[in-house]
Amino acid sequence: MGTRIILALDVDSKTRAISHVLTLKNDVALFKVGKQLFTRYGPSVIRQVQQAGGKVFLDLKFHDIPNTVALACREAVRLGVNMLTIHATGGGSMMKAAVESVQKASCEFKKRRPVILAVTVLTSISNDMLKNELRCGLDIQDQVAWLAHLAQKAGVDGVVASPEESVLIRKACGESFMIVTPGVRPEWADKHDQKRVMTPLEAVKAGADYVVIGRPVISHSDPLLAVRMINKELGVKSNCGR
Ligand code: C5P
Repeated sequence: MGTRIILALDVDSKTRAISHVLTLKNDVALFKVGKQLFTRYGPSVIRQVQQAGGKVFLDLKFHDIPNTVALACREAVRLGVNMLTIHATGGGSMMKAAVESVQKASCEFKKRRPVILAVTVLTSISNDMLKNELRCGLDIQDQVAWLAHLAQKAGVDGVVASPEESVLIRKACGESFMIVTPGVRPEWADKHDQKRVMTPLEAVKAGADYVVIGRPVISHSDPLLAVRMINKELGVKSNCGR
């Protein structure tokens, strides 16, 4: 496997985003465009990331009635994104509608079928909130494992999961189910607001196929060096010398 890094393009300017893509495109797998960048610039930012040579992970976490999510997924396919997210709490029928729509749209637009990831329980939700505020009967670990299983049954390719959740998801969903893990911090990086972090290597050992990393790279004085240090930790050779 090549690089496992997904770079979170959490910046407020398109110029900065594209500059990161140009610098890092050979050393990271995908660039995550989230709600901030997308709401500011719309689809044009996706096209520009692609034109600069980057693959796009569109992280808009779709959650709506099945028809609406299916139509949004269709547009994401038309844009040629490589990965996208939906909420598992939209239910099995919503997830199935997303999977079918992506399949159909990929044929229609002659695009590679993007990977669909489900978000189970947001990591900002605690066990106490889940039970007492949202009135969910299950413990958070069981809820995460259940939603991952439901996503897999609906044909979704994988989940976004915190480092601690990966082990139980691997157990519940097997080896071929993709796990993408944020909240990852190399030893040398600041934790920022992330509470429960693992190093990239620990996250991969816990089951992550990809790690999502933002500030340790984009706030580093030398983002390419930061990415290469992480790749080295994960046993990936640099694509070119420097
Ligand atoms: O800068 P940092 O490495 O903390 O960025 C992590 C990225 O992953 C951010 O875009 C954040 O929104 C996202 N993310 C997260 N925790 C989750 C889901 C997504 O940090 N549970």
